[in-house]
Amino acid sequence: MLKIGALVSGGGTNLQAIIDNIENGMIEAEIVTVISSNPKAYAIERTKKHGINTVCISKKEFLSRDDYEDAIINKFNEAGVRLVLMAGFMVVLGDKFIRSFQGRIMNIHPSLIPSFCGPGYYGLRVHEAALEKGVKVTGATVHFVNEETDGGPIILQKPVFVRDGDTAETLQKRVMEEAEWEIYPKAVKLFAEGKLSIENNIVKGAHL
Ligand code: GRF
Repeated sequence: MLKIGALVSGGGTNLQAIIDNIENGMIEAEIVTVISSNPKAYAIERTKKHGINTVCISKKEFLSRDDYEDAIINKFNEAGVRLVLMAGFMVVLGDKFIRSFQGRIMNIHPSLIPSFCGPGYYGLRVHEAALEKGVKVTGATVHFVNEETDGGPIILQKPVFVRDGDTAETLQKRVMEEAEWEIYPKAVKLFAEGKLSIENNIVKGAHL
């Protein structure tokens, strides 16, 4: 069975959606380790409730980013992790980590990449930028992680319509409810079933 390791920093609602889909039998996989960068992340309360092994490894404890990445790599390797899920992880990981799990790291981003993504686009900022631009459609993207922030091969996307009167907060909530919690579990399911392949940086075999 596919062994998953997840990286979180905050609320953990995306991780929750994946836990729920594993528990209801939609995804055949096991979350073997969750690493939080933040000791106060609510995601930790969620994983505890489901008896999932969880540790906090915060960047502050390490002298260099290399040492920090080593600690995460070692933890995942000890647990036999085959797929890494970034689920609201607020630390940018470097080449070393990416090389260790090449083609096996996924992330969810709350816009339709390549819009409103890259350095500086996280949290509410993404939705503020979408509203400032006046887009009528936004959404979410699950992608493989490579060296470029939010630049890896796209796995799944789902659009969400912007409504008159939307604020960054209302849009953030709808993008999560209507898109993120649906497409992240679906992408994991496709991976677990061996249905995803990457050819020339394009993901094949992924459809909603
Ligand atoms: C989500 O909006 C996700 O797209 C982004 O960070 C947020 C994490 O939320 N990468 P949660 O911790 O899963 O609730």
